[in-house]
Amino acid sequence: MCGIVGYIGNKQAADILIDGLKKLEYRGYDSAGIAVYNGEKIKVQKYKGRLSVLEEKVKENPVQGTLGIGHTRWATHGAPSDINSHPHSNASGDIVVVHNGIIENYMELKEELEEEGYTFKSETDTEVVAQLLDYLYTGDIVETVQKALTRLNGSYALGIISTREPDKLIGVRKDSPLIVGVGEGENFIASDIPAILKHTKNVYFLENNELVILEKDQVTILNKKGKAIKKEIFEVNWSIEDAEKGGYRHFMLKEIEEQPKALKDTMTSRLLEDQDQVILDQIKLGKKELQNINRIFIVACGTAYHAGLVGKYAIERFARIPVETEVASEFRYKKPIVDEHSLVIVVSQSGETADTLAALRLAKEKGARILAITNVIGSTVSREADNVLYTWAGPEIAVASTKAYTTQLICMYMLALHIALELGTISVEFFREIRDALKQTPQMVEEILKHKHDIQKFADHNFNTNSVFFLGRGLDYYTAMEGSLKLKEISYIHSEAYAAGELKHGTIALIEKGTLIIALATQQELYEKLLSNMKEVKARGAHVVAIAQEGHEEVKKVADEVFYIPRINDHVTPVTIIPILQLIAYYIAVARGTDVDKPRNLAKSVTVE
Ligand code: AGP
Repeated sequence: MCGIVGYIGNKQAADILIDGLKKLEYRGYDSAGIAVYNGEKIKVQKYKGRLSVLEEKVKENPVQGTLGIGHTRWATHGAPSDINSHPHSNASGDIVVVHNGIIENYMELKEELEEEGYTFKSETDTEVVAQLLDYLYTGDIVETVQKALTRLNGSYALGIISTREPDKLIGVRKDSPLIVGVGEGENFIASDIPAILKHTKNVYFLENNELVILEKDQVTILNKKGKAIKKEIFEVNWSIEDAEKGGYRHFMLKEIEEQPKALKDTMTSRLLEDQDQVILDQIKLGKKELQNINRIFIVACGTAYHAGLVGKYAIERFARIPVETEVASEFRYKKPIVDEHSLVIVVSQSGETADTLAALRLAKEKGARILAITNVIGSTVSREADNVLYTWAGPEIAVASTKAYTTQLICMYMLALHIALELGTISVEFFREIRDALKQTPQMVEEILKHKHDIQKFADHNFNTNSVFFLGRGLDYYTAMEGSLKLKEISYIHSEAYAAGELKHGTIALIEKGTLIIALATQQELYEKLLSNMKEVKARGAHVVAIAQEGHEEVKKVADEVFYIPRINDHVTPVTIIPILQLIAYYIAVARGTDVDKPRNLAKSVTVE
């Protein structure tokens, strides 16, 4: 869960590396470093703390050179410290490595090298790679790297430079993401596109076990067998602005406000006003294929899992097929009953989450058909799935996922409608009702965002609370889960989402004078039930804030405050409710002064188990 970047060209590498790391800091930010070849030796500068610490130090002690690698860290082996920061090198400092991932057999290799007289400065697995390269050096750095790879177990994206062959920058990937940016007289490696977008839009996505040799004017990619291969270059259609803050105080607020466009883009060319069908790109999931499927699983982590719960609701309601929604870290070890008659839908914004990837591979091994819903083209999940339905949300930089969630919801609804139409479990009238309701959501979310200052006022009165309960029934319960996660992960307030009807079986004991309750009451068929649950907690002194559909006046008599969403079909309210809960979490976090875009203990894409 780190970010790596590399540069070889004619420009000064240090600024390019630090600028690239700025775009990768959402991947990990407990220490950072760069290594630049200054024509004689490789100068390493690395420090514990945010990238700004490194930036200051490099300003004080600039380094010249047009070849370099950089790293921003999310500690896995060895606590955050200067010595454990990357880059790591061999004893003589002429082979230097940056790494994203985990070398699982590093202790074994370390002991072997210690027997050979090697000593180690840090507690990291990465330093072992640098020393192993030194130990195995054959006089040819590429050959040496290939040899070392046969000894490494685990996941890695590596950037390697050496004074022994200073005209090369080596990149290697296995399970951790790595892209190659192709420029004019310069080339790049990076963990993610935003790091190099300023310099080029032409990228190669490295597959597992591929190795790239970058020279100023040449890019050579070798496959696992060491054979040079030709790869399709991909032109990125994201603007730099897309990957920058665009004047917003935080990426999270920018991405919340980008939801109307992201929703529209994700429905474009798939859900058309005048068409009684869903155009699911090139995904062949017709009646014949569906009749061969008797089980559907939705597997994901965190926010993506919450989108999966709404997907379960929609597929079961519209297509009447039972769906199991599973957290990937449980699914992969529970020996799931999956076979060639199973459709496994994996959901992942980054497309790189280790647990979700492992679940995908397990299901694939068992013969299941894999459909991925992801936001990153070329991500590992997208390349290993049989079919991919992309959320067109654009780059999501803030750790707390917002626009990726709402666009995942849209993909879930489109999938449920498509399956239901194919199986004939819904009428065209019903299809049109849901289609038109979904097409209304961008404008409705825009409407809701206009009231963000009312939500800010609410947050400014409640940011000091230390516990919050989110209540809902049915679909609202699933939305409450996502609202609770958003609040927890950026404000550090303990909060729980609870099925409102379940509260009286124990947890209501926690409700006392002033307990903040956020109650979602948007489902007509459950409205009365939810109102009585609100009365139950009110009776214990709770401060109740309700979210309801316009026209539902009754709720005003029970709740202390009400946020209304524009009237919409009950089945799709998660899309229009969640921006309110995202903004509540955002403004409470801002009021508490937490690091909204890079919350403590978190990272945007969890690439280790
Ligand atoms: C959500 O705000 C978090 N960043 C986290 O729960 C995230 O949803 C989870 O790690 C899954 O990430 P993915 O969608 O990239 O697989």
